[in-house]
Amino acid sequence: MVTLEDLKQIVKPKLKPILWDDEKNVLTLLDQSALPFQNNYVDVRTPEEASLAIKLMKVRGAPAIGITASYGMVLSLISSKPSSLEDSISILERAKKVLDMARPTAVNLTWATSVMLESSRHAIEQGEIKSVNELITLLKVQAKKIFDDELEAELKMGLYGLEKINDGDTILTQCNAGGLATGTGIGTALAPIRVAHALGMRISVIAPETRPWLQGSRLTTYELMTDNIPVTLIADTAVGLVMYKGMVNSVMVGADRILADGHVFNKIGTFKEGVIAHELGIPFYALAPLSTFDFKSKANDVTIEERDADEVRTVRGIPIAPEGVKVYNPVFDVTPPKYVTAIITEGGIVYPPFEKNSLKLLSKER
Ligand code: MRU
Repeated sequence: MVTLEDLKQIVKPKLKPILWDDEKNVLTLLDQSALPFQNNYVDVRTPEEASLAIKLMKVRGAPAIGITASYGMVLSLISSKPSSLEDSISILERAKKVLDMARPTAVNLTWATSVMLESSRHAIEQGEIKSVNELITLLKVQAKKIFDDELEAELKMGLYGLEKINDGDTILTQCNAGGLATGTGIGTALAPIRVAHALGMRISVIAPETRPWLQGSRLTTYELMTDNIPVTLIADTAVGLVMYKGMVNSVMVGADRILADGHVFNKIGTFKEGVIAHELGIPFYALAPLSTFDFKSKANDVTIEERDADEVRTVRGIPIAPEGVKVYNPVFDVTPPKYVTAIITEGGIVYPPFEKNSLKLLSKER
């Protein structure tokens, strides 16, 4: 029986996508917009820089943007040097607005900035801190906790997800829901795959390219090849055929937002994988930490991000369509609960009916 402690020793990813320097007060991000062609790191010193890095997708993936935003909150106080605790709260409120508007769909972003703001207010109200320096120290601890909790949650999802993997399986994923997307080097959908690989199971991954931003071809393949996990790249249009031909044992995807009733918001293309998997009797799992759950919204309330038309008109700067062609570029979709076999979180595996079972899980976890 493998334990969480065992996993901490044996799952050792090589990539370090997010680094915080506590002496210099600098957040350093592996620039995902340049991978795998260049291995550049960018330094972030203000909430505005953090927000821009999220908007330009130098850092991307729901948990990774949550972690970046939490350090963006720390940096707001360090860069503005407020003179009082009252001013500190105004600065944090402003930083939260700047960070929250970077991208709309992943709930981890607003979740992380809310945790940072609320823990500051709480500590001040309770008299636990008396100075701006003490508040900065508290927020550094809180941001590190968000990062550390994410890592722990991913290892737990890895263990739960392992129950759904057999030796020799091939798993289809979507986008990049690996260590790059979470900042930890492990990932959500890729966590059980990393665990199975570390335990010596023969396992392989099929990665659709994930047009238009190519997270699958640029990032998932790079991340898995770096850690010697077998991966095959396919065009997005090949998804149906590989499933129909019996080449896929299960689908494992991440999520940017999961509603209480089991609607899963994830990278564009996920919905069709859910429908095809359902039609062909292939299990479809969404893996996400509880920070990705949104227990308040209904499916129609959620904003699906639309990005620049040139992402579709070009491939990495090279035109592939007539200049000025009209484009629609939604970058997430929603998979209704009917197509979701189970949702795997750090608290356990949630099966339908999701409304009842996810609320039960949440009350157990918090
Ligand atoms: O637009 P992106 O690259 O930020 O979208 C990322 C995804 O859709 C991921 O699947 C999701 O954030 C889960 S990450 C572990």
